[in-house]
Amino acid sequence: MNANRLSARLAALLVVGLMAGACENEEPFPSFDELDELKLLHSMPQRPPADPTNRFADNTQAAALGNRLFHDPKLSSCGTVSCKSCHDGDGRTVATALADGCNGNVTGRNPPTILNADYNRWFMSDGRADRLWNQAILPMTSPVEMDSNATIIRAQLNAEYHSSYAEVFTKTPDETGDDELLANVGKLMQAYERTVNRRRSPFDEDVKRFISVAEVSVVEATKDPAYLGLKTYFRKGQCIVCHKGVAMTDHLFHNIGVKDGSAGAEGQTAAVEAMLDWKFNAAGPFSDAPNGTDAQRLASVRATLVEKRAEMVGAYKTPTLRNIALTAPYMHTGEVATLADVVEFYDKGGDENGSFTGTRTETIKKLELEPAEKEALVKLLELMTGEP
Ligand code: HEC
Ligand code: HEC
Repeated sequence: MNANRLSARLAALLVVGLMAGACENEEPFPSFDELDELKLLHSMPQRPPADPTNRFADNTQAAALGNRLFHDPKLSSCGTVSCKSCHDGDGRTVATALADGCNGNVTGRNPPTILNADYNRWFMSDGRADRLWNQAILPMTSPVEMDSNATIIRAQLNAEYHSSYAEVFTKTPDETGDDELLANVGKLMQAYERTVNRRRSPFDEDVKRFISVAEVSVVEATKDPAYLGLKTYFRKGQCIVCHKGVAMTDHLFHNIGVKDGSAGAEGQTAAVEAMLDWKFNAAGPFSDAPNGTDAQRLASVRATLVEKRAEMVGAYKTPTLRNIALTAPYMHTGEVATLADVVEFYDKGGDENGSFTGTRTETIKKLELEPAEKEALVKLLELMTGEP
């Protein structure tokens, strides 16, 4: 099998070599390594990875109750803002750069989508939540978002969800302490969000087809409609360095040089310690697996804090690219309007030095893409929209 693969490849290399002429030194796309990376890009598993820190994560009753709570503005102090206010429509976000919360306040950042959210390993663009259930506590209690607290939320649970809550948690809201109540509501939100996904996209079909053609012949692969887009994504664009795997993220944080003069411009560095010391984190008393692998994960982040500090300044989470055509505008600031603008952003090597905090990572530099390569990248991104 391997010998066959190799001899087919050698024959193809020879043909491409003979045809190549001008671009003589370029290895045909995809190389074996690139082929392996391509195989990791398609077909999301039908369930987000398990979350042992929330024992209700895949409980259907919890998801049904979470669904109702997600859409309920009475959980907010002003009575008008629900999770849905900022995570709505096909893209489960808003169409503006920032979003409106309680009392005329505006968010500091662009709301990301909640589609496929639990395929992420960190939450919020600066990673200040380590699990999807504790993430939900942040907007509920943020003065610029829902401006709420356990007293307001308990009253609403008692008024409208008393028996459903008691069925899931085997105690009433009044029998639940303040912090535990917030954590429990977060766990319901997560159970619901885990059911809100758009996974299968034309991109997956294209990648699968491209792989099967390329495994037989890299010459035939050059004629595939996905060829130029994928090649640019892997080679000149370097997108695959960070946007890899089925969720199209490395689950890491990078400073890519996005203009930001706001108070949050420090990115991960301003969030990481608060997250590590947070009573609601996955190693804390409200976690359903406080001594599991999550605790080790947090410990290893803590262990590398000093060494990694410089890289964390102005670094943001690599977001998924799935459903990206549904979630404009882009970046944590929402400053980039369209996908064509995103490609221009990368082509020029990010925003100007001095317009963002920290040091831009080395991968982000001028790309000098041809117009056809830019177009092919935008098309590739547009094909990442999944079925509801
Ligand atoms: C007023 C607008 C607003 C409301 C209300 C709101 N969010 Fe968000 N949401 C945001 C913004 C802005 C961010 C990004 C914040 C950041 O990155 O620092 C965000 C981030 C998220 C994320 C992180 C996704 C990721 O990939 O990291 C999830 C999940 C989420 N919100 C779910 C919820 C839930 C659940 C609720 C209700 C309890 C909620 N949101 C209420 C604006 C809002
Ligand atoms: C060094 C890692 C890295 C590389 C290389 C990279 N990205 Fe990104 N990408 C990121 C990070 C980090 C963000 C989030 C930045 C922010 O929010 O400020 C991002 C954001 C985006 C967004 C906006 C997502 C959203 O929801 O707002 C798109 C689209 C995108 N990248 C596409 C690409 C494409 C196309 C390429 C190749 C031309 C590429 N990226 C190369 C790390 C990278």
